[in-house]
Amino acid sequence: MEFNTKIALPETFKSDCVAVGVFADGVLTASARRIDGITRGALRSAVVSGDMNGARGATVLLRSLPGVASARVLLVGLGKADAFGERSFAEAVRNTVKAAGPGSTSLALAAAEWQVRGRDSRWHASALVSAAREVSFRSDELKSKKDDGATRLERVTLLLDKRDPGTERGLTEGRAIANGVDLAKRLGNLPANVCTPDYLAQQARKLQRDWGIGVQVLDRRQIEALKMGSFLSVAKGSDQPPRLIVAKYQGAGRGRFVNPIALVGKGITFDSGGISIKPAGEMDEMKFDMCGAASVLGTLRAAAELKLKLNLLGVIPACENLPSGRANKPGDIVTSMSGQTIEVLNTDAEGRLILCDALTYVQRFKPAAVVDIATLTGAIIVSLGSVISGLFSPDDELAAELLAAANNASDRAWRMPVDDEYQDQLKSNFADMANIGVRGNAGSIVAACFLARFTKDMRWAHLDVAGTAFRGGSAKGATGRPVPLLTHFLLARAGA
Ligand code: BES
Ligand code: MN
Ligand code: ZN
Repeated sequence: MEFNTKIALPETFKSDCVAVGVFADGVLTASARRIDGITRGALRSAVVSGDMNGARGATVLLRSLPGVASARVLLVGLGKADAFGERSFAEAVRNTVKAAGPGSTSLALAAAEWQVRGRDSRWHASALVSAAREVSFRSDELKSKKDDGATRLERVTLLLDKRDPGTERGLTEGRAIANGVDLAKRLGNLPANVCTPDYLAQQARKLQRDWGIGVQVLDRRQIEALKMGSFLSVAKGSDQPPRLIVAKYQGAGRGRFVNPIALVGKGITFDSGGISIKPAGEMDEMKFDMCGAASVLGTLRAAAELKLKLNLLGVIPACENLPSGRANKPGDIVTSMSGQTIEVLNTDAEGRLILCDALTYVQRFKPAAVVDIATLTGAIIVSLGSVISGLFSPDDELAAELLAAANNASDRAWRMPVDDEYQDQLKSNFADMANIGVRGNAGSIVAACFLARFTKDMRWAHLDVAGTAFRGGSAKGATGRPVPLLTHFLLARAGA
């Protein structure tokens, strides 16, 4: 789907469909009034007849209105004008695309009218692309018959009354983010028998071919040479070989790869729990346990597409967590790359076991900041549900940057504590630390505290996206989060 702008009026611009908004109680927006004027009240009569009351979610399609260049006029209910916020905006765009999509290949809309207070034209354009791309995303590559109801829309034109650099910039950013989100969703949705650690590595290699991102893939022997005993202990229960994916986007100029922002993504392609096996219900959803990794790949793609002027390092430890005769057993003690020993009291707390070694590894790049992204704990779902991602960082400045990025991206995050008091839970009688704390006791904070032990000399933040990276139930599927948050963080860092 392409997005462009045009300085034109809604009644004279020719497309398959022109969408105009109607607020609650039939209050017409300016472009709706224009079309109403030249059609001698066609829109008013839709309101008076009760066909369109302006309620959120309502749409009415009118055809062949005299004097209107487009074949169709789509009335879109926007709800109460004073309650029109970010969610109503996204919903209105989604409904517009859904209603126009089956019959039209081109859509025009007066972009400036659906105004969310406090948001500029850049935000509106970017949010419009995100919402439109969200409803056109399909996950049918493994279906023999493709999903119907797919939109036919090929082009969306924002009608403006004057040139606006903010809108253009928002469209460009929105496109790049939506492409990154779609990549993350696609990888997340693929089943674990397709999306293996090596498959993720091949996807990184594809980013190298398509976007010139430097990619190195380390196999088991090379991971052994790095002494990543913690990561390898998780991997060894599976017949799928582990991979350590190292990707470098060098946007800060030629020469040495210096001061990168490092993104570390949890790449458990399937989490059965291992010997501490999970219950059977919904276990299929543990194919999504590589969504952190997928968000790193999606963000790398977005950064490259936007040609961001910064260096970006993506590191992904990828493996399966399965039970077998070679798997970690509760009580096993492993030695991490940092030299610290870990008592594996629960093999299902495997995310931290692979991330700790990846975090130790990124230290050698002297990153300006490191952010890890992981579907790390069920406990974060208890805290924040599926609405908001958990943000953990001992670094106030970095936390503030990430919260600002979350706000700009409308990809929400909430800062959680990582106070040292929680570290006590990780005491072990036999090793430097245990990999779990006390059941039912601040599990996502304790997990963050575990990671904090491996990031002492770096500016570090951790995003727990177990609740936000995918949905369960009938809307089951990856969301692509937190690619928007991360891309906005990078945009700000790159001074864009
Ligand atoms: N991948 C899971 C966390 C998870 C749970 C992600 C639900 C998405 C949805 C993680 O590896 C895990 O199993 N965590 C355990 C940790 C516990 C054993 C300390 C958990 O949250 O139960
Ligand atoms: Mn687990
Ligand atoms: Zn897991």
